[in-house]
Amino acid sequence: MSDKIHVARRHDSALKHVTGQALYIDDMPEPPGTLHAALVLSKVACGRLMRLDADAAKTMPGVVAVLGPHDIPGRNDIAAIGKNEPLFALDRVEFAGQTLAMVVAETLDAARAAAAKVVVEIEAGEPILDIATALARESYVQAPATILRGDPDAALAAAPHRLTAEFSVGGQEHFYLESQIAFALPGEDGDITVHSSTQHPTEVQHVCARVLGWDFNRVTAVVRRLGGGFGGKESNATWVAAAAAIAANHTGRPVKLRLPREVDMVTTGKRHGFDYRYTVGFDSEGRVLALDAVLAADAGWSLDMTPGVVTRALTHTDNAYWIPHFRAVGYACRTHKQSNTAFRGFGGPQGVVVMEDALDRIAHHLGRDPVEVRALNFYAEGRDETPYGQTVDENHLERCWAEVKAGGELERRRAEIDAFNAANPVLKRGLGLFPLKFGISFNLPHMNQAGALVHVYTDGSIRLNHGGTEMGQGLFIKVAQVVAEVFQVDVDRIRPSATSTAEVPNTSPTAASTGSDLNGWAAWDAANTIRSRMVAYAAEHFGVAETDIEFADGTVRIARPGSNQVLTFGELAKLCWLGRVSLSATGYYKTPKIHWDPVSMRGRPFFYFSFGAAMAEVAIDTLTGESRVLRADLVQDCGRSLNPAIDLGQIEGAFVQGQGWLTCEELWWDASGRLRTAGPSTYKIPGSRDVPPVFNVTLLDNAPSREATIFRSKAVGEPPLMLATAVWTALKDAIGAVGSRRTPVRLDAPATPERVLAAVERARRESRTAAP
Ligand code: MTE
Ligand code: MOS
Repeated sequence: MSDKIHVARRHDSALKHVTGQALYIDDMPEPPGTLHAALVLSKVACGRLMRLDADAAKTMPGVVAVLGPHDIPGRNDIAAIGKNEPLFALDRVEFAGQTLAMVVAETLDAARAAAAKVVVEIEAGEPILDIATALARESYVQAPATILRGDPDAALAAAPHRLTAEFSVGGQEHFYLESQIAFALPGEDGDITVHSSTQHPTEVQHVCARVLGWDFNRVTAVVRRLGGGFGGKESNATWVAAAAAIAANHTGRPVKLRLPREVDMVTTGKRHGFDYRYTVGFDSEGRVLALDAVLAADAGWSLDMTPGVVTRALTHTDNAYWIPHFRAVGYACRTHKQSNTAFRGFGGPQGVVVMEDALDRIAHHLGRDPVEVRALNFYAEGRDETPYGQTVDENHLERCWAEVKAGGELERRRAEIDAFNAANPVLKRGLGLFPLKFGISFNLPHMNQAGALVHVYTDGSIRLNHGGTEMGQGLFIKVAQVVAEVFQVDVDRIRPSATSTAEVPNTSPTAASTGSDLNGWAAWDAANTIRSRMVAYAAEHFGVAETDIEFADGTVRIARPGSNQVLTFGELAKLCWLGRVSLSATGYYKTPKIHWDPVSMRGRPFFYFSFGAAMAEVAIDTLTGESRVLRADLVQDCGRSLNPAIDLGQIEGAFVQGQGWLTCEELWWDASGRLRTAGPSTYKIPGSRDVPPVFNVTLLDNAPSREATIFRSKAVGEPPLMLATAVWTALKDAIGAVGSRRTPVRLDAPATPERVLAAVERARRESRTAAP
């Protein structure tokens, strides 16, 4: 048994996080001459920019420059994958919050005061602010995408039962604690080093170079840690860094751009809200025969990473269920709002809700138990191919389901809740279960690669660098554990260093939960290269076979007939150096077995699936619509966890974040398209009191990944967010308890008190008219 991997170890920065000693970009000492930047934003959602007059701003005390589109030496384009997403709007304004210009000044106060003095005139047009209008006008950021299997039309026509329903889910603000920030420092020949709170240093490097019109090698992007990212700093950190870089280049001085919370919220994209309409066909037992679904995403004003989000939504519409005839069409609606982006689950959460809604309706329709109807439809042997052609192997659905039902005492509590509801006219309780299957890998195969750089110093201490970024998820400690395992040294001997495009180049974003899978293997590869060199040299030096050399407990044992020799790891490192052996290596990894055809929407996009199950109990107040999560039981498959303590934290955090998405977090734009929930006073994220008072989380035991993942572990960052779907299901169950249980409940998310109350009223009305 290793004491390096598969063991609970605290986050390497845990103490620094809680004592405030962890350094974030805004904590970095500012060199003399540092300037501060503030943005000038559009207050209009759509229109033509007629005038931008910065004369008054320029004469304000402390102002050094006011920069607009004409001050960009390279291309005015910060698009992640598309084209023509300007850093500073040139003539057309596409959303309220769009950046028009930037003031650079000696102090932050001076910059902000001057930004307010810039005169902007926009001839306002009529904005598209909702999905329905965008669909009606065929306003899209990309062509609709479809996953199709079989003949859903014929299968629906022939099905013994058919239901059609609609619902919608809202978006979600990332609300990372550290708002977007970049600090750009000019150096030799004006080359720029930009410290950026980004999940994607390579994109920061590329886009800074693009706006400056430079080769990539003149820009270095560095990030030690982020104060949370959650997908919101995958593409959105890029333009902030690009703006700081432009200003640093223009002034020749260090420039810091940190967005105040409100500016962060009105400028950056969020989770995509979706509207759904589906028809599902099924037999009398509740077996699904066909699904025809439309998923329409609110992409906001530009492409950003919407194609990936829509693809992931479509590849997760099946969730845990075998659906023989399947059609899911994804629309990416162009609206005059912030350009929506990656958010934990990346479209997956918006995909899996479809079947959860459908199965509840099927169960209601047939008068069957929704828990059983779900299990009846699970992927299983012989019914194990997804609609996009990947086989669901290593299927842990039944196991997770059984464990969550047993651990949550399903039968006893179902009876208890029913009794409670029968006795209580005002408060109602509900129970919801949810099974999860989530695909791990970036949908674009080329993104599934990673690099690492490991140095062993002659005292045996180790410096570790890789392309992944640390955003609180515990990536650095996990990868350090991997390296510790290779060298059999204590994890404390390994020093993770800031992610930098100068150390490991051409990286993918830390996203899609792939951080430890990819960087863990890359670091293993680098460490193993060094270890092999050390072994070869030691064998030669001591005149033994390589198999006689063993690394253990920070030492190296050389087994020699009669006399074993033991060196510390550092002593061997020194010896190797004296023998002129390189103790530094790069490592590389690419995920095997994956392929994807974006045209036919078929392939094997995921290296493996991760599974899970959740049971949630809620209470609602039918007079106020308020709700509480009383208890949650979760089972999550982490393969053979690299670090169960980190994984536990990820599961708990993800669940509560998902709970926030589905219940209290509501984004609200006024009729002119301005986001009015732009701060913690109007946008409610879950607080400590929203954490379920009974919260039982278990990692699926004895479930090493069948695929060759790093030490048979599995990704954990995103999947458990979807487990919160059980809360939404439980809320519908509680609402259903006010009427007859044959009344299906529509509950759009977020299930705010208003929505719950409206659904309660509807359920009351419908059960009165539907009563036999
Ligand atoms: N956990 C914390 N504490 N902070 C974060 O920003 N981001 C999530 C998840 N867990 C996040 C987090 C998202 S969106 C992803 S994709 C993964 O972490 C990324 O890290 P990983 O690939 O190393 O799991
Ligand atoms: Mo996570 S949404 O893939 O950054």
